Amino acid sequence: MKWPTHGSNPQFLYGALHLDMPESVIDFSANINPLGPPAIVKDRWNELFPLVSDYPDPTAARLTELIATKEGVCEKQILVGNGGAELISLIGRILSGKKALIVQPAFSEYEEACRVNQCEVRYHLMDVESWELRLEDLLVDLREVDAVFLCNPNNPSGMFFPKQTIELLARECAKYETMLIVDEAFYDFVVEYESTVSCLQSCENMIILRSMTKMYSIPGIRLGYIMANEAMLSKLRSNKPHWSVNAIAMKVGEWCLSEEEYVEQTIHLINNERERLMSFYHENEFFYSPTNVNFYLLKDAKVHDQFPFFLFLMEKGMIPRHTMNFPGLDGKWLRLAIKGPTEHERLLEVMKEWRKVDS
Ligand SMILES: Cc1ncc(COP(=O)(O)O)c(C=O)c1O
Repeated sequence: MKWPTHGSNPQFLYGALHLDMPESVIDFSANINPLGPPAIVKDRWNELFPLVSDYPDPTAARLTELIATKEGVCEKQILVGNGGAELISLIGRILSGKKALIVQPAFSEYEEACRVNQCEVRYHLMDVESWELRLEDLLVDLREVDAVFLCNPNNPSGMFFPKQTIELLARECAKYETMLIVDEAFYDFVVEYESTVSCLQSCENMIILRSMTKMYSIPGIRLGYIMANEAMLSKLRSNKPHWSVNAIAMKVGEWCLSEEEYVEQTIHLINNERERLMSFYHENEFFYSPTNVNFYLLKDAKVHDQFPFFLFLMEKGMIPRHTMNFPGLDGKWLRLAIKGPTEHERLLEVMKEWRKVDS
């Protein structure tokens, strides 16, 4: 069977499993802010129409300026892209013919971007039982490659490595001239997040990647950015299509950056819901990953094979993300997004039903 490579678009997952898609479903497979886009996007939507008939600014000057102010870096250290995914594919291009180490399990696009550019891929597997990063081993492994990918917060587990870990990696990568790519697509969901931007000074080869599609719930519009040193950015930029970021995405991005209250509300909601879910799972013998963000890994502690549990959820219209293509997980866990109270009421009812079937 050919498993879909990403979450979202659940029709592909039902198709692959030869299951009928129930009329009413809740998609827990995409990790998007459950509040939907900030109200300003809908309120000012009509202002976007005139942008359609002009070419967008290929430098994304205004958005870049706003990001620079927010992050405390200079504008020359920012490259805006058509979602984090476009930027990952640009990174793949500059790794052509080289060797990259991916701290796994992680977002599958790193490997994809490397492979299409004939970049040799190696894995550094995290321990998925203790959820520990074997840092000492990683510091040795990174000497033998040209680049290291670290997803922080980690997709799929939701775990977050603190700034000291990144600083240590950055110093070591600088010593061995290894490129360090830290994907912070979900950084803004982490309460205790401390900016890693200062690491760019100690590590010339460092790239910090951000997505704006998760927190601001705009995956259909596509927006992300990279922070790195100028020399690195000019290599990346030379591979980027001129107008890859459209004018609507830029304008929406400009609006979103001032939505601090919405971000606070989101974090508050996610924290409350996470606590409620985890206490249910704890009491009902499910294992879950120690997540700091808006998604988590889950498995039924009472059964070895998770596939019947996965099928049960799908049949009930509760769509998890399978983990068949995450090295180290290989389908032994399910990933679910954290959503709102209404969705979780339904989800927990279904979990209780499963417990009855299962026992
Ligand atoms: C860890 C991680 N990085 C980057 C991306 C790309 O995000 P986007 O292209 O929507 O900005 C994703 C999307 O799921 C992701 O999970």
